[in-house]
Amino acid sequence: MLSKVENLSEYFLAYEKSVANTDTFWERIANQFYWRKKWDKVVESDFEEAKVEWFINGKLNITENILERHLFTIGDKPAIIWEPNDPKEANVTLTYRQLHEKVCQFANVLLKNQVKKGDRVIIYMPMIPEAAIAMLACARIGSVHSVVFAGFSSTALADRINNCEAKIVLTSDGNFRGSKSIGVKSVVDEALEKTKTIEKVIVVERTKTPVTMKAGRDLWWHDEVAKVDSINKAEEMDSEDMLFILYTSGSTGQPKGVVHTTGGYMVYTQYSFQNVFQYNTDDVYWCTADVGWITGHSYIVYGPLLTGATTIMFEGVPTYPTPGRFWEIVDKYKVNQFYTAPTAIRALQAFGLDPVTPYKLDSLKVLGTVGEPINEEAWHWYHDHIGKGKCPIVDTWWQTETGGIMISPLAGLTPTKPGYATLPLPGIRPVIVDADGKILKGNGVKGNLCISHPWPSMIRTTYGDHERCKSTYFSTYKGMYFTGDGVKRDEDGYYRILGRVDDVINVSGHRMGTAEVENAINEHPKVIESAVVGYPHDIKGQGIYAYVICDMEGRTEENLKEEIRATVNKIIGPIAKPDKVQIVSGLPKTRSGKIMRRILRKVAENDTSNLGDTSTLLNPEVVDEIIKGAQ
Ligand code: WTA
Repeated sequence: MLSKVENLSEYFLAYEKSVANTDTFWERIANQFYWRKKWDKVVESDFEEAKVEWFINGKLNITENILERHLFTIGDKPAIIWEPNDPKEANVTLTYRQLHEKVCQFANVLLKNQVKKGDRVIIYMPMIPEAAIAMLACARIGSVHSVVFAGFSSTALADRINNCEAKIVLTSDGNFRGSKSIGVKSVVDEALEKTKTIEKVIVVERTKTPVTMKAGRDLWWHDEVAKVDSINKAEEMDSEDMLFILYTSGSTGQPKGVVHTTGGYMVYTQYSFQNVFQYNTDDVYWCTADVGWITGHSYIVYGPLLTGATTIMFEGVPTYPTPGRFWEIVDKYKVNQFYTAPTAIRALQAFGLDPVTPYKLDSLKVLGTVGEPINEEAWHWYHDHIGKGKCPIVDTWWQTETGGIMISPLAGLTPTKPGYATLPLPGIRPVIVDADGKILKGNGVKGNLCISHPWPSMIRTTYGDHERCKSTYFSTYKGMYFTGDGVKRDEDGYYRILGRVDDVINVSGHRMGTAEVENAINEHPKVIESAVVGYPHDIKGQGIYAYVICDMEGRTEENLKEEIRATVNKIIGPIAKPDKVQIVSGLPKTRSGKIMRRILRKVAENDTSNLGDTSTLLNPEVVDEIIKGAQ
């Protein structure tokens, strides 16, 4: 096994080494992979310019490290086990050898369809094995994948296609989600009416939903693979060649394309996967995320497969056909490491213990959580009833931009504390700064979380707009990467993430920009202005609360609220639909015309005892009205 830290003192030692001699530390880990040519220099970075490079001039292909590297050792080990939405349908297991064959074959399909190194490929697919095969086939030929979560609307999909000027879309006819079957290809068709760059669409047959296939553009996956063989020589990539773009929300209206490159991402996702989850040969690992998010990229596909792990991909939802589905799957495959989000834990907790007790859950060794702060009640429920008090919980803090887990216990090694992500991984140097950018030293401090030194899987740029990368992450605090999260370091030096300090909200573990939701609401013809804030929600972590000024003519409040929710659904997708909509006559503004979100947040939180001084507002009278009409 590659570079596995085995006990707590080894962790401290590894951490010390990573700080004292960063180059040697990462070089030793990187040396364990297949490189066509080794690097000339380990790292070069300039945070002022947001310029970071790792394993400079190294040449490799990440899929050789996932596939060829494992063929002669674990070729017959299951790489991916796919569990379908319907438990009565047959599952699929792909061994490393079979995955190799399928990836090579689809790589040949891409080549045959004129996809070249550097071309952008959109993957808009449900959780089916072809999604992982597609990602790896792109990496194999050096094209850049951009997976778009299949729950996003056609408008959101079109925006992403246009932003990266993609050449081809890989999709499916439909998507099974619980008792529903949802059209997927139809969404692509709608999106392509608003784009100009797509030459081909390749469609996996999954639900047998009728679709229209446009001649000359649309092709069936099964027809295409039947035309090619499965012999493919991987493209030689530079360590800093782009591996993928993943769009994520920020404080501004337009999602940004976070760019990750090849060498550093490979080294860090493998190292963090193996150490955080303490994966051992023959373990079965399951992460319940969707490949449309970074967690799916790094910890369903790349990290586990680079480690030679068996990774489960689940197509369905936690409550179908019953709220015991997760636990049924754990027993069925004897899952050893289970990784999910607090929102899923809270949703299942709400069903009580009846759906849990029929299952043994005795294969479980490690439980993980990601995406949002976990409340103590959910932590204890997870620990006591799922882990039966014997499985460490790894509360993993990281971001789309960080590429891999940054602060987390190493399972079974780091003593845990409910609600705490605990300590940084080797190589990761968190600092806490106050509002003026002063570094807060020592323990027992609270402030904004920054990272002071580069790490291999960090964001390289935001696609097509490097200035945006610079200003979003590297300008708030000079010489540091700013995460956007608030954090506390307690007396033991343990980190507790306190949530976003910017205009990003976290709904069911999904990042949403308030400006993005406002832009969508403002598309409704009757809307004059809107302001969106997050508020605490029992299951989702945060809910979306929208304050909207409307022209009410010809509409009732109830009609309008429904129409507004439908507009957001259409423009972004169901995950962004406001939980609460309040129609207001005005929004509290400062004299310079800026919306006072602090007040709106307080009202949404139902905490109006301490609104602060509102007399300096341009329109203090609206505050009372807003409080009275609060939902
Ligand atoms: C939040 C998901 C508390 C945080 C991998 C971060 C967390 C944002 C945790 C990134 C955690 C992620 N505890 N908060 N363990 N993990 N977050 O890009 O606010 O979808 O900035 O990446 O999720 O969300 P993203």
